Amino acid sequence: MTIRSAALLALLTTAGIGACGEKQDPVRHDFLDASGPVTWCEVGPIFTTVCTQCHSVSNQGDARNGAPPEINFDTYSDAVDNLDRANVNIQAGTMPPTGGIPPEERNLIQWWVDQNTPACGN
Ligand code: HEC
Repeated sequence: MTIRSAALLALLTTAGIGACGEKQDPVRHDFLDASGPVTWCEVGPIFTTVCTQCHSVSNQGDARNGAPPEINFDTYSDAVDNLDRANVNIQAGTMPPTGGIPPEERNLIQWWVDQNTPACGN
């Protein structure tokens, strides 16, 4: 878990929002009201720091830790090209295989998908 993820998780826990997700909708709307549309500016760093630990064109052979060679998350187009499978795994908590990403980051990616994946700067 990254330091940023740990901080987000601590924030969620402090706010009384458990990992089981029963209060996810109010959280989503609070965030959207406060920060506007979710674009690649916000979700890109999750893909390019977390997923590229295995799924990067820079990783070859063993450095991919078994990640399929054709599935990478280095760029916006990579993420959009692989989005359906990526988001199924993200929402299910099965990627990264070490236990997924924190609920707040899963929500952030779901909002981005729901808004038809705006690029950074849109
Ligand atoms: C520690 C290495 C590692 C990290 C980090 C990682 N993956 Fe994977 N990924 C794998 C491995 C290994 C496979 C192949 C085995 C499997 O499918 O479970 C895989 C397979 C996949 C697949 C294809 C399988 C399918 O169900 O379609 C997708 C899509 C995927 N990963 C998305 C992601 C996303 C999105 C992230 C970041 C949130 C991520 N992965 C982070 C190792 C990783």
